[in-house]
Amino acid sequence: MIDSKTKFGHFDNDNYEYVITDPFTPSPWINYLGNDGFHGLISNTAGGYTFFRDPKFRRLTRYRYNNVPVDTGGRYFYISDGDDAWSLAGRPMDTVLDKYECRHGMGYSRFLSRKNDVEAKATCFVPLNTTAEVYMVSLENTGAKSKQLSMFSFLEWCLWNAEDDATNFQRNLSTGEVEISESTLFHKTEFRERRNHYAFYHVNHELSGFDTCRDSFLGPYRGMHNPLVVETGKSNNSHAHGFSPIASHHLKVDLAPGEKTSFVFVMGYCELANDEKWARPGVINKKPAEALIHRFDTTEKAQAALDDLHRYWQDLLGKCVVKTPDSAFDTSINIWNQYQNMVTFNLSRSASFYESGIGRGMGFRDSNQDTIGFTHMVPNKVRERILDLSATQKPDGSAFHQYQPLTKKGNANIGGNFNDDPMWLVLSTCNYIKETGDYAILDELVPFNNDETDSGTHFEHLHRAFNHVVNNLGPHGLPLIGRADWNDCLNLNCFSTDPNESFQTTQRGASDIAESLMIAGQFVLYGEEFAVLCDKTGHSELALTCRAHTDKMREAINTHGWDGEWFLRAYDARGNKVGSNDNQEGKIFIESQGFCVMAGVGTDNGRAKKAMDSVAEHLVTDYGIMLQQPAFSGYDKYLGEISSYPPGYKENAGIFCHNNPWIIISEAMLHNPDRSLAYFSKLCPTYLQDKQALRRSEPYVYSQMVAGADSAVPGQAKNSWLTGTASWSYYAAVQYILGIRPDYDGLRISPCVPAEWQEINVKRTFRGARYDIDIVNDVSDASVGDDHTGECNTSNTSDSTKPCVTASRISIVVDGNALIGNLIPFAEFSGDHKVVVTLTK
Ligand code: GLC
Ligand code: GLC
Repeated sequence: MIDSKTKFGHFDNDNYEYVITDPFTPSPWINYLGNDGFHGLISNTAGGYTFFRDPKFRRLTRYRYNNVPVDTGGRYFYISDGDDAWSLAGRPMDTVLDKYECRHGMGYSRFLSRKNDVEAKATCFVPLNTTAEVYMVSLENTGAKSKQLSMFSFLEWCLWNAEDDATNFQRNLSTGEVEISESTLFHKTEFRERRNHYAFYHVNHELSGFDTCRDSFLGPYRGMHNPLVVETGKSNNSHAHGFSPIASHHLKVDLAPGEKTSFVFVMGYCELANDEKWARPGVINKKPAEALIHRFDTTEKAQAALDDLHRYWQDLLGKCVVKTPDSAFDTSINIWNQYQNMVTFNLSRSASFYESGIGRGMGFRDSNQDTIGFTHMVPNKVRERILDLSATQKPDGSAFHQYQPLTKKGNANIGGNFNDDPMWLVLSTCNYIKETGDYAILDELVPFNNDETDSGTHFEHLHRAFNHVVNNLGPHGLPLIGRADWNDCLNLNCFSTDPNESFQTTQRGASDIAESLMIAGQFVLYGEEFAVLCDKTGHSELALTCRAHTDKMREAINTHGWDGEWFLRAYDARGNKVGSNDNQEGKIFIESQGFCVMAGVGTDNGRAKKAMDSVAEHLVTDYGIMLQQPAFSGYDKYLGEISSYPPGYKENAGIFCHNNPWIIISEAMLHNPDRSLAYFSKLCPTYLQDKQALRRSEPYVYSQMVAGADSAVPGQAKNSWLTGTASWSYYAAVQYILGIRPDYDGLRISPCVPAEWQEINVKRTFRGARYDIDIVNDVSDASVGDDHTGECNTSNTSDSTKPCVTASRISIVVDGNALIGNLIPFAEFSGDHKVVVTLTK
């Protein structure tokens, strides 16, 4: 059922905020707090949870996934006024408010509610470099009569290990322990044994009471929507022994008409050296907590920390600012897409409202891809991430599919032998060097499989990634798919008929037959990138060898990978075609079209264009581009998980958003600006504000999946936030639509914009120089003719990304001087520069 309302909120771009005006959004619309290891997920009614570094092993607060009502559990403030009571952030109490507003901003969320002439506000954030959430709360009496209010805070502790917390009740109903010290409530569960960390919840005010025992606070058979303590208006001063420890402060607030009062709450996490854990037997050492509290014990101090956070984000977002005639494009690129890129970079696919934080660590392929939308923001974090990933690579060049963030060690919990994994390391590394010029990363000594006794330079790791493909070719000279390639659900060597086994970890047979055209295209694309890198670093012999391999792969694709109207997807374990017109279902897949065309395969013989026309004909819907068609109607053990989903969902012909930018880029490379932008605008959430009720998920960030044409409700979006769609969309929009592309030796300018976009401005900081770029589009007709190689060919260095296409003619003037070609050389620039780019037919 679709909510009859169409809109639940809107953008406030001046403040970089999304404003939600109804607490009952179609699903919880969340935000993320923190970005340096201490993270909170916070919904539009303050639901969610907090963790330190690892959402499985260091979960601070409890959250029940798949619970009803949805999104119960969070940082709650109950306000009671005589017989009335309500929730500051709109839920979990059902009381209807006179006004409700949630503003999700960059690293903070603000809530405002009005009821009974009381205006209440809360701003929740994690200050920079801090292991605490801070809540600045204020209450104001806007009426004519004085008020005697009570406010009760509430949060529920998780017993650290989130999986154990949700399953092992015979133990964990007996382990909870707390300590109470004035206005600070400590969660010291398991501190007596092997843990050296505790959490606390503090308010900078004297208490009228407190509770630390959940049952006492809620009352028997009650829930967070109707706690007994809120109803009686009086805390029980309860001590949790075992059972579920919580933290609740009771504050009595008397307000004269017009009077306002403010509090600062701090929910923090402390680690202690083993010999400093105790102040005296049984009493924890509270010094680290006191120090943390002291940093935010007044509204002024908390506000200063919030200001720092604003500045931090302003600075980050200031590195690339675009102005086009399309405000939806700008809103996404300038604010929300970059913000989402940071979140996905930090959390990979671990903790969202769809990823429970206990299953998945940092994915190898996911994390590499996440860097491409983020490197311009915090390059040194990307450097560290690339080297961490590299250190999990095995000596034969293959990769663990994921690693756990606490240990940084690779594990096979969700399988291995995903044969696309290795080459993503080339993408992240080349992209990083182009942005920063930091070739030194290639010389870093990095262990294989985290084994310090077996190390090689990072360059050597890339070389082994390359060779892993070369060493794993199948009967047609195409790459073996292994467990699966980018499409986790195309399990061609699994043959599973047992519902209790995992598609990700099951493999039968030798896996020496099934081949992937997606990896083939990926190998040509990133293999040639690697060859360019070899040239740049003096490995010219190796570059030649690599090119011989990628040339051969092109040939193999052309000979065995073309189906007549599009690229094949794979050969299965019996040597049968997948993604062919000969198939009954799954005739055409998106991944091989995107990767072969991005690699430039078929640009010389018309196949690239044909493949894109086939995508347009068979896969494009109003809501984005579907993964394949026709959907699989039943389960087929030779295809695996892809055929397990009902038609239209996930990999079975859903719009799996991550791969849509590959087509957007491909179209831009073939110089089809109109198609490129049309696909972008179907995908990008800022364009879809009138579809909020249909889509259900947050209208300010990408979702992993949108239901496809075969589904019950096409257009419904799921799995928001943590998706490779974020970084790929940003990369496609900035580097290919706007065509502002860092290259090894300079800034490449190669826009592919529709004729209606006549004036564009991009402000971009690169390697210490600030470029203010005006793009003047004099191409009155959108189809700019066939000769679209334009002046690229005359540029001073060859484009490392191909094929080289721009508008028919591009002329660039830098600080008044005409540039030859389309590459602004970095070497000659620092400081501020004015660039005028003119596109003509
Ligand atoms: C999920 C995975 C990603 C995979 C994709 C397609 O998004 O995180 O690694 O490529 O699904 O199956
Ligand atoms: C399932 C999902 C896929 C995800 C994979 C890994 O196969 O369909 O999207 O990438 O699980 O957890």
